[in-house]
Amino acid sequence: MGSEFKTGNNSFTNEEVAAQEERWKFILGFTPTALVKCAIELGIPDILENHESPMTLADLTLELKCSQSTLYRIMRFLKHYKVFQEKPISETSVRYTRTPISRLLTRNGKHSMADLLLLESTPVMLAPWHKLSAWVLGNEVLPFEAAHGNDLWGFGAENPGHSKLFNDGMACDARAGVAAVIGGCPEVFEGVRTLVDVGGGDGTAIRLIVEACPWIKGINFDLPHVVSEAPESEGVEHVGGSMFDHVPKADVVYLMKVLHDWADDDCIAILKKC
Ligand SMILES: C[S@@+](CC[C@H](N)C(=O)[O-])C[C@H]1O[C@@H](n2cnc3c(N)ncnc32)[C@H](O)[C@@H]1O
Repeated sequence: MGSEFKTGNNSFTNEEVAAQEERWKFILGFTPTALVKCAIELGIPDILENHESPMTLADLTLELKCSQSTLYRIMRFLKHYKVFQEKPISETSVRYTRTPISRLLTRNGKHSMADLLLLESTPVMLAPWHKLSAWVLGNEVLPFEAAHGNDLWGFGAENPGHSKLFNDGMACDARAGVAAVIGGCPEVFEGVRTLVDVGGGDGTAIRLIVEACPWIKGINFDLPHVVSEAPESEGVEHVGGSMFDHVPKADVVYLMKVLHDWADDDCIAILKKC
């Protein structure tokens, strides 16, 4: 028998008490994302990163030109989640400083994930979640399409602002993934003359591979509206098209974070084009 916790006339098992604590995760689970998005938009991770020493609340308030009491509540929440750290400077006063998490949330940091968080927290990307139960109950239209009347890629083609957010967000993740591949198994690129990144987005991944392995000629292959906005980069050719129609020929085909987006039959069709 598990022990019991009594309050007034009610008694609860340990599991029930734990469930009462856990419920807040489900009821207010979106708040860490909302508060981190707020901090990124205000530029707090960048301000603390670029400030030589930890900052008082008054310093930060002055920098942001905002209400000190409101900012205090935001910082208190984010400190709890270890996004920022508080350093006591006297019995009554503290200074805020960066943490490994806040470094991931600066706007242009090498390992920044800020753009990905800003993408995933947009109303556009959150709306499909509200369509999930309808999909489970048999609505054959996928949640993104049910929310926006178009699939993710068609929506991006019609909404250049969202397409940019999407490509910037993907680039964050591509930077982390490519660094791990190049650092962890550089030998896979030995002897490769041409490499095509299928669904390569704005070309971040192939650019980093070519920078690390300059003997490789890189091809960034993605939908026309995506490659038309991709920045030029030495050693990389951007090619627009659909992988369901053709895939440019190369020694090696790189398919990071593409195959898991499609059903098994689609994946087989893509691989047959390579
Ligand atoms: C999840 S993103 C991955 C982006 C990038 N490879 C990365 O790892 O960050 C999937 C990419 O596939 C592209 N895509 C979608 N449909 C495509 C198609 N039919 N042909 C080529 N690329 C496509 C999208 O535009 C998007 O850039």
